[in-house]
Amino acid sequence: MTGDIWNAQQYLKFADDRLRPFLDLVAQMETKDDARLVVDLGCGPGNATALLADWWPDARIVGVDSSPAMIEAAREHAVPGRVEFELGDLRDWRPDEKPDVVLANAVLQWVPGHLELIGGLAAQLAPGGLFGFQVPGNFDAPSHVALAEVKQAWAGRIGADIDRPGSHDPAVYLEQLADAGLEPDVWETTYTYVIPSDPDPAVPCGVTEFVRGTALRPVVQALDEGDAAEFVAEYDAKVRRAYPVRDLGGRPVQLLAYRRIFAVGRRAA
Ligand SMILES: C[S@@+](CC[C@H](N)C(=O)[O-])C[C@H]1O[C@@H](n2cnc3c(N)ncnc32)[C@H](O)[C@@H]1O
Repeated sequence: MTGDIWNAQQYLKFADDRLRPFLDLVAQMETKDDARLVVDLGCGPGNATALLADWWPDARIVGVDSSPAMIEAAREHAVPGRVEFELGDLRDWRPDEKPDVVLANAVLQWVPGHLELIGGLAAQLAPGGLFGFQVPGNFDAPSHVALAEVKQAWAGRIGADIDRPGSHDPAVYLEQLADAGLEPDVWETTYTYVIPSDPDPAVPCGVTEFVRGTALRPVVQALDEGDAAEFVAEYDAKVRRAYPVRDLGGRPVQLLAYRRIFAVGRRAA
């Protein structure tokens, strides 16, 4: 990725919505009481990683992330001897012992060519080990189409090498896990997120704030403050049309349909 695009505070604004798929992923993974090492690749701000200590009660939990800002935030969740965090890139990550569980939640979409990494990650697992990941499957949703359109309009003002997340269809991951020698379980879920939103068009709407925590970050980071505000305002106008602010039980909200793809692979014991 180019530089450190992440801001833990912005990412955590929608912590509950972002946590749900993490929990749905983990819920499909066996607790494996004998697990010794659980690794959370691309752990982000560590709030989710810390919960893994309950799921795998005797394991050492290690969160790895390439963003110094995220690791700094994550270290607030460290528990000496139980939950640790380290700066590192999952592309060249090599564990000192074979992990029983490797997770990568909402991460691989940021790694170009990530399909080719799956075999190498699977090979690191201990016998009987589990590899679970989740990626968004919403890159053709209005929120991302609007982003692509504004980027296109700004092509002369932002560089061509901006990070752009992407993912594959479930069947592609299923085959890749099977080719890596794992027993695959792949599924998808479309969540309907209820996003609090200000009806005043002078203020960025809730969906814009949500996307500002992830896919908007590389662009905002690449522009100076004034241009970034202009870009976000153009994006926001489109997003407000695609996701009208509506009343839900007296609260102004936007409904954001969000497709996510889940995969768990199990290595033979
Ligand atoms: C959308 S956040 C997900 C954070 C966390 N897993 C969660 O579920 O909330 C994506 C994270 O992946 C990290 N990341 C992206 N590319 C990475 C790489 N090559 N190696 C390690 N971490 C990476 C980012 O720094 C960021 O913290």
